[in-house]
Order: sequence, then C-alpha cells, then structure tokens
Amino acid sequence: MGRGAAPTAAPSLGQVMRCSKCLLCLSALLTLLGLKVYIEWTESRVKAYPEPRGTLLDPTAASSEPTLPANLSARLGQTGLLPSAYWNQQQWRLGTLPSEDSTETGGCQAWGTAAAAEIPDFASYPEDLRHFLLSAACRSFPQWLPAGEDSQVASCSSADVPYLLLAVKSEPGRFAQRQAVRETWGSAAPGIRLLFLLGSPVGKEGPDLRALVTWESRRYGDLLLWDFFDVLYNQTLKDLLLLTWVGHHCPDVNFVLQVQDDAFVHIPALLGHLQSLPPTWARSLYLGEIFTQAKPLRKPGGPFYVPGSFFEGDYPAYASGGGYVIAGRLAPWLLQAAARVAPFPFDDVYTGLCFRALGLVPRGHSGFQTAWPTYRIMDACTLRGLLLVRPFSPQDTIRLWKQLRSPKLKCDPHW
Ligand SMILES: *[C@@H]1O[C@H](CO)[C@@H](O)[C@H](O)[C@H]1NC(C)=O
Ligand SMILES: *[C@@H]1O[C@H](CO)[C@@H](O)[C@H](O)[C@H]1NC(C)=O
Repeated sequence: MGRGAAPTAAPSLGQVMRCSKCLLCLSALLTLLGLKVYIEWTESRVKAYPEPRGTLLDPTAASSEPTLPANLSARLGQTGLLPSAYWNQQQWRLGTLPSEDSTETGGCQAWGTAAAAEIPDFASYPEDLRHFLLSAACRSFPQWLPAGEDSQVASCSSADVPYLLLAVKSEPGRFAQRQAVRETWGSAAPGIRLLFLLGSPVGKEGPDLRALVTWESRRYGDLLLWDFFDVLYNQTLKDLLLLTWVGHHCPDVNFVLQVQDDAFVHIPALLGHLQSLPPTWARSLYLGEIFTQAKPLRKPGGPFYVPGSFFEGDYPAYASGGGYVIAGRLAPWLLQAAARVAPFPFDDVYTGLCFRALGLVPRGHSGFQTAWPTYRIMDACTLRGLLLVRPFSPQDTIRLWKQLRSPKLKCDPHW
C-alpha cells in the first residue's frame, strides 16, 4: 500500500506543483486585471467628477480682505525649484500682461508669438490650445452689436441694485437653453437680475445667427455679446468682460452667480444661504463645488489635456465652472489679479488662480452638484435640498420647475 501509495503520490505532487504554478499565474493575472480595472475606474472618476473635498484647509487662517502683493510667486505656490514649464516660467517673470485698447495693436499678439517661440514642442499641442496661447493675452473685445444699434442691456439703476446677478454662460446657438432658464429659475424676481454671456453670433464655421440673436436681444434685453469666437478656450474672456461690465454698470451688486446654461439653480435655497453667511465671508465670497486636489490631465488627445511643457504642478483649489458665486465688490480686484496671472486655458482653474493671487479661499457647499451623473434621475424632492445642479436638458429644467412649484409635491420628511 505504502509502495503503491508513493507512485500515486508522486504524480499528484507533480499535479499539485503544476497546479500551484497555474494558481500563481492565475492570481498574478487576476491581480493585474484588477489593477487595470481599478486604474481605469479611478481615472474615469477623476475625469468625470474630480473629487470635491469640502471647504479648503483652515478657513479661519485666511484673510477676508483681498490683497495683491508685488511678488505673486509665493501666493501661487511657486516656491522651491522652478519647473521649466512655460506657464511656471512665465508667471515667475510676469509683471503685468500687455494691456491694449485695441486687439489690432501688437502687444497682446506679440505675447502669443513669443509664447509659441519659447515652447519647444508647441507644434505638437492640440489645435485649440495653440489658438488659445496665440491670443491669450488679447482680452479687450468690444461688445457685439447689430449694425447701428446700442446695447440692449440696461445698466443697474441706482434705485434698483440687484442683490444677485445671474450671469449665465451660453452660446449663441443655444436658444432653447436660454429660453428654459427665462421660463424657470431665471424668471423675474425681486432683487434678481438675469444676463446671458455670449461670444459673437458669427461662428468660426457655424451658421450666421446674427438675425436671430438680434431679435432675441431686442425682445429680452438680457444678452451681453462680445465680438470674439465663442469656443471653449475663450470662456475666460466672458468672465473678464463680465467683471468689466459689472464694474461699470452694476458696481453695487451684492453677489454674482456665474453659471452654465444647463444648470438648475434653486434660487430660494441659494438666497437663503447667501443671507445666512457671516459678513466677513460674504464680503469675499467664492462659493461653489470646490476641487482641492485636481491635477492636470496628461493624456494627449483626451479631455482637458495639459502638456507637461506648458504647466507643472497641481491646480489651485477652485470652484467648478458649472456654477459658483462671487461677491460683487471683488470685480475690480479680480481684474487686477487677472492682469498679473499668466493665462491658463480653463476658465474655472484660471478664476481659482486669480482668487489665490488675491489671498482668498474658496468656500465649499455640498448643495452645489455640478456634475450630476446622467443615470441618476433628479426629482423635485432631492432638488429641494440642493442649491445648484447640472447638467439638464431644457425639457428636464422645465419638468423640475413645474414639480418644484406644484402644491401637490409631497416629500419624505427627512428631505
Ligand atoms: C518672489 O518670491 C519668490 C518666492 O518667495 C522668491 O524666490 C523671489 O526671489 C521673489 N522675487 C522677487 C523679485 O522678489
Ligand atoms: C478667441 O477669439 C478670438 C477673437 O475672435 C480669436 O482670435 C481666438 O483664436 C479665439 N480663441 C480660440 C482658442 O479659438
């Protein structure tokens, strides 16, 4: 038996050995597979919804008054060894960006040409990033007006200063989105003023929307249009030109909400929150869904790609561009900061850089949900507990508005 057992034991041992090799291989494969899935999952999560981390650092440590030191380097985290990337180098050297009265004159174009010459792999940059850099310092554009007409947009009258200005970033062709906003959360209310921010209705390659936009502007008087191409990397122009408009035409507004036209803003909840803020916060407000750990994405051809030769380091804490509120009195301060912060292609990151330059911290609020997953249906009861959610179709915006105002709306008490 014993003898007989040995020969039978030997092959089984071999089998076990082979099998343990198999197992080892298999588990290694599984581990690799798991790792790949995990990496893809985290990558897609970072892309889709960069993790909001609530209020930044220690809010009490920050001053509530803006200041703009002569040397911005430390403020913008440029301490230690200076990376060779263009933005970092440029920010280090930058006094102020060339100011120009007209986009025709050399200054701002020359800045772009110099940038292109200084970046070794500029030719390999995506086309829109190249376009951005070539004209990034050109920031004063005239209002776009139909031939022979004045602006249809009235200044804020001293008798009727809005408490909250709703500044909605739209694009000329997005008529339905604007109309949905006018008919719902942007409809007339005491203390509220609604404006849409747009580039030129003559697109780069698109249809000529001048006649339609002119009609809309006369009908509603709520379109602020400027004469630049309305493309993704020109969105910072809307922020800067809005701040200029506010400074001239509405300087006493308490708060400005900068928001996308596919958002739903729960105005009563937002007003309630703004009115409850401690005065020191309210004076220097920068409120929204705050990203504190965002880094540049380095996948060429992917969304929000930033080449290593352009920018090194982490992004500043910033409020998602889907919608955020600032204190109106900061408009001139932000313009001063923007003249001294090197151009960056993403409008919300750039706003974050400008606030950081002023020494002001963003305030997070979980009621701002700027990347609501499309597979999660929004209902009026959930919306009641939030301040701002996006993205929605015009149809969804109207549906939610009706539900929210229906006397029949019954919500679970825990909402
Ligand atoms: C600006 O600040 C940085 C970092 O604190 C410092 O290294 C640099 O020398 C300063 N530049 C000037 C011109 O003072
Ligand atoms: C932004 O608009 C200006 C003026 O129309 C144009 O010269 C520039 O190329 C545009 N920027 C981008 C990134 O297309």
